[in-house]
Amino acid sequence: MFFLVLLLLGGVSCSPAKRSQYGLIASPNYPKTYPNNNHSTWNISVPEGYHISLKFLVFDIEPSEGCTYDFVKVWADNKELGRFCGPPKSKSHPGHRLIVSEGTQMRIGFQSDFSNEEHGSTILYQGFQAYYQAVDNDECALPNDISAPWTPPCQHVCHNYIGGYFCSCLPGYKLQSDKRTCKVDCSSHLFTEESGYISSPGYPKPYPADLNCNYSIRVEEGFRISIAFVETFDIDSHPRALCPYDTLKVIGGGTLLGTYCGRKSPGTLKTSSNKVDILFHTDDSGDSKGWKLHYTTKAVKCPTPKAQDSFSIISPKQTEYQLRDYIVVSCKTGYQLMENDKELKTFTALCQKDGTWHRPMPRCQIVSCNSPDIPRNGLYTFLTKPKTVTYLSAITYSCNEPYYKMVTQRDSAKFTCREDRIWKDENGGVHIPICVPVCGKPSNPVTGHSRIINGAEAEAGNFPWQVLLLKNGRGGGILIGEHWVMTAAHVIREKADQANPDDANNLHVFIGDMDVEKLIKRSNLAVREVHVHPSYKFGYHDHDIALIRLKDPVTMDENTSPICLPGDGDESLYDAGTVGYVSGFGMTEKNKISNLLKYVALPMVQRDKCQEHLKKKQSTLPASSKIKGEKFTENMFCAGFPEAEKRQQDSCQGDSGGPYASQSGDKWVATGIVSWGIGCGSGYGYYTKVNNYMHWIKGHLNS
Ligand SMILES: *[C@@H]1O[C@H](CO)[C@@H](O)[C@H](O)[C@H]1NC(C)=O
Ligand SMILES: *[C@@H]1O[C@H](CO)[C@@H](O)[C@H](O)[C@H]1NC(C)=O
Ligand SMILES: *[C@@H]1O[C@H](CO)[C@@H](O)[C@H](O)[C@H]1NC(C)=O
Repeated sequence: MFFLVLLLLGGVSCSPAKRSQYGLIASPNYPKTYPNNNHSTWNISVPEGYHISLKFLVFDIEPSEGCTYDFVKVWADNKELGRFCGPPKSKSHPGHRLIVSEGTQMRIGFQSDFSNEEHGSTILYQGFQAYYQAVDNDECALPNDISAPWTPPCQHVCHNYIGGYFCSCLPGYKLQSDKRTCKVDCSSHLFTEESGYISSPGYPKPYPADLNCNYSIRVEEGFRISIAFVETFDIDSHPRALCPYDTLKVIGGGTLLGTYCGRKSPGTLKTSSNKVDILFHTDDSGDSKGWKLHYTTKAVKCPTPKAQDSFSIISPKQTEYQLRDYIVVSCKTGYQLMENDKELKTFTALCQKDGTWHRPMPRCQIVSCNSPDIPRNGLYTFLTKPKTVTYLSAITYSCNEPYYKMVTQRDSAKFTCREDRIWKDENGGVHIPICVPVCGKPSNPVTGHSRIINGAEAEAGNFPWQVLLLKNGRGGGILIGEHWVMTAAHVIREKADQANPDDANNLHVFIGDMDVEKLIKRSNLAVREVHVHPSYKFGYHDHDIALIRLKDPVTMDENTSPICLPGDGDESLYDAGTVGYVSGFGMTEKNKISNLLKYVALPMVQRDKCQEHLKKKQSTLPASSKIKGEKFTENMFCAGFPEAEKRQQDSCQGDSGGPYASQSGDKWVATGIVSWGIGCGSGYGYYTKVNNYMHWIKGHLNS
């Protein structure tokens, strides 16, 4: 069969001959008769992969025995394919058969002699015309002559195409560089599943020769590959040399883990890598069965986390921790997570690819509170040992007794350092107790009634509430609280101008000693404000009461402490005959003012006697005397002894504003303020009745 489509062909000529794919050749002068004595040759050449097919279309050559005179000769493949002559139908006529070469060359020779002329005949021969064509070789086809030795062009599969052929290999095999032989392709097998089987090529049949296999297992980082050889293990070996022929090498993470051959299975290999290469090399001979392995992968494990101390809590608790597991560490109540010196709110650690925790375990450190607040005039003591301010340390508050007592919000003075680092009492309260001065409890209470003329000298601690006031002259005052001194209004006020008083001017307040000289050497108590009773009228003694507010609290001790104010039920202290103590620095001693604190015990007098005494005295006074207009009001009481008794015990000018103190039960109460009298030591003295001013006093004290 002829192929007319020859487009792929042509190309570069590699012989001097013409390389067209088809063409016509004809005898000289054709279609006229050919000349005598002519020799012509045609060399036909086609590209590799083709052969030549020749067909005579016209053939008319002078016949001769053996075609010795005129003939056409065809050569190819180093042999003569035919020698033709004669007219059509003659014996040596080529007919229409195809003359085919095996190779790419064909030579056609034509020869004529003189004989045409010699015979003088008129018969003329036309010559010949032939058509030639390049025909594709089917290199894959079996040869026609099957008896001759033949090597197939391809080891596995042959593919013919026009002008050539190529070979390919069965799956799993690779075409070698000779383009014809096939070898098992195991040079780059990649396994990425987390487990799998790998075996030698052809297993369980004997493996082929000349292998260079590379089976690579690649799994995710953080996983480790284990290899277990299963079933048969048989690799060609020599009893005395170490794997001289075929070898199986296992390389884990770039390190050679072993070279194996023979019939003893390597068993199980645990690599610590996620990259394993199995290299299988075979030489050109042998008939061993090979091997099979099962590989598996496991995530790396992290060590079981160890708590740094007994206060750490690790969760979750697992028997094993592996890649990407995480743990949370927290602390028991009252403990704080610490990473080195840094406080942590939370702690999480992750198991990493290399089998370590991504951060070191934290510590739990006991929580500390700040030092407890100390109440004014109080202290705290530890109830727990050691005396630290750490979680669950407990303290109890107390006040500086006996001069102070405690006022608590609730009723516990015990505070504990809590997990939130705050000291709290049993109910969770955070306000520490307050220490308030104890009133009416002198450190050395006076006993008995002094009957000494002009009063007795007080001992230390008899009247710790006694205050010395200096404002032009001397006056007395009564300590009734940390910030408050009570006195008589007339001691404070020195002029009638009520709208523009001078109450605080030049006012000095002292406390804490019984000797005036010593007292005034002390620093005086700074005054913040002065409140004279709003109803007080300059020049009279009704509402003769004033309050001094001190800037800083007075600290109480054995010589300084307040007296109580009268409470409900203390009205009976004003009953006639009830004895109270008047103290002061003003008592005269032979008309000389005293520099030492003195006191006198004086009984309350019936109110009508006080009135009577006043009237009698007023009648003896000159009209100019201020006392003339004085009235004995509901806001006063009088105390002392009648003039007739000549006991000369009384309060006097310098005592004004000082206390008239009564004992009520186990405490001392300021029932009166020394207010006025008519002469000193001459009959009853008049006092402001403190009980009538409780509302006004408390209004100020609580402000
Ligand atoms: C044969 O004939 C051809 C064509 O006429 C001519 O070119 C050639 O020279 C001849 N050859 C011989 C040897 O006569
Ligand atoms: C044809 O080929 C033969 C042998 O290869 C050679 O001797 C001859 O010179 C060639 N003729 C032409 C015309 O190329
Ligand atoms: C085997 O294949 C792996 C992965 O391609 C490669 O890293 C390694 O170098 C190869 N080993 C050899 C001996 O060719």
